Amino acid sequence: MPKSLIVYFSQGGTTVHIAESIAEGLRAAEYEVQLHNIKDGQPPDPRNYDILGIGSPTYYFRPPFNVIEYLNGLPDLVGKSFFVFVLHGTYSGDTGNIIRRTLERKGAREIGYSRCLGADYFLGYLKRGYLFSPHHPEAKEVAQAEIFGREVTAYHASKPYVKPEYDASPAIIYRLERFLINRFMVRQMYSRLLWVNAEKCSACGLYMKLCPTRNISADTEGRPIWGRNCLLCFTCETKCPLNAINSPITWRLFWPFMVYNTLRASRDPSLDGVPVVHHSGHTKVL
Ligand SMILES: Cc1cc2nc3c(=O)[nH]c(=O)nc-3n(C[C@H](O)[C@H](O)[C@H](O)COP(=O)(O)O)c2cc1C
Repeated sequence: MPKSLIVYFSQGGTTVHIAESIAEGLRAAEYEVQLHNIKDGQPPDPRNYDILGIGSPTYYFRPPFNVIEYLNGLPDLVGKSFFVFVLHGTYSGDTGNIIRRTLERKGAREIGYSRCLGADYFLGYLKRGYLFSPHHPEAKEVAQAEIFGREVTAYHASKPYVKPEYDASPAIIYRLERFLINRFMVRQMYSRLLWVNAEKCSACGLYMKLCPTRNISADTEGRPIWGRNCLLCFTCETKCPLNAINSPITWRLFWPFMVYNTLRASRDPSLDGVPVVHHSGHTKVL
C-alpha cells in the first residue's frame, strides 16, 4: 500500500480541516496516510513515504516561519512526489510559490496544488473591526479537498500532471509589509516588544498552552515571558481573556498596512467579510 505523509501547520483549525479531508480522499484510493501538525513536534522522516503533502496557512503573504524552517531543513526528496495546499483569509501572495519551489529544489515531483479560503482571525484586522472569510472553508470546499486527495493519487499512479502556473506575486505594499515582518526583525525586535500589563494579568497560563512554538514561559509570578521563536501570530494577545497582553500590532508603523489591507479586502467582491468587535479573547460578529 503506498504511503503518504501530510505535514501541516494549523493554529485556527482551518488547515487541519482541509488536511483531514484530503487524507480521506487518499484513503479512499487505498493509500496509507499519516497526518502531522508541525506545532506538535518534529514530523516523521518523509523519506519513508511515497508522497509528502504540505499544508500551510498564509502569514504575511508567505508561509509562517515554522513552515519555512521545516521545508528548508528537509533532506533530498529525489524520487518522491509532493502536493501542496494553502489556506488564506484574503490574499495568499507567495505562500504556494515558496513551498512548491522549495520542494522542487529538494528534487521532488509535484502532483497537486490547491488553495482554499480560511476564516481570518489575524488580530490586526480584528482590531480594525473586520473578520474576513468567516465561514470558510465551506462544506463544498471541504468536499473539494477530498476530491483533490483522490486526484493526487491518480497523478501519483500514472495520470499525466499539468503543473498549475505559480501564483502572481503580491503587490508592492504587501511585499513591503512582508519585508518589515521578516524573521530577523521578529527575532531581534518585535518579539522583545510583546509585554504584559501586570495589573491586569491573572497568571492563568493560557498563553503557554496556546503558543504554537512553545515560545512563552512563565516568570516567578506566573506572567508570560517571550522567547525569540515567535511567529508573530498574536494568539497570546488575541486569546487573552483579560486584555493583559500588548504587542507591536497597534504601532503606527503597521497602521497604514492594516488600513490599506482591510479597505482593499472589504471592497473586493470575491471576498466575504463581516464586522466584528474583538475583546477579552472573543470575537463577536455584529
Ligand atoms: C498572523 C497572521 C497573519 C496572516 N496573514 C495572512 C495573509 O497575509 N494573507 C492571507 O490571505 N491570510 C492571512 N492570514 C489568515 C490565515 O492564513 C487564514 O485564516 C488561515 O485559514 C489560518 O489557518 P489555520 O486556521 O489553520 O491556522 C493570517 C493569519 C494570521 C493569524
